[in-house]
Amino acid sequence: MTDEVRVYVEEAPSQRREVVAPTDMALSLMEVLKASGYDIQATCGGMALCGTCHVEVLAGPALDEPSDDELAMLESLPVMTQGSRLSCQIRITNRLDGLVVRLMPQGT
Ligand code: FES
Repeated sequence: MTDEVRVYVEEAPSQRREVVAPTDMALSLMEVLKASGYDIQATCGGMALCGTCHVEVLAGPALDEPSDDELAMLESLPVMTQGSRLSCQIRITNRLDGLVVRLMPQGT
């Protein structure tokens, strides 16, 4: 068992950047994306309250269903797609390996 996973961020159509994330630090995807230089405000600090960490899951392993709090926040955003998730609510675990996400414009 490896202690890191690879997540891919689609920065433009057919342009994906690999992000390596440790699985043993209880990090959220939002924290990993911020640490990788992505401009995510995360003004609520990961409490599912600000929506600025909105991502769209494009491919990869199935994730746990969003909590009621996450769903309520997502539904309040101007744009919500089938793959919409709050990256602060996604824990980095081995199961995430191969996940592909796209950052949604902040405020949407
Ligand atoms: S950081 Fe605020 S909702 Fe995720």
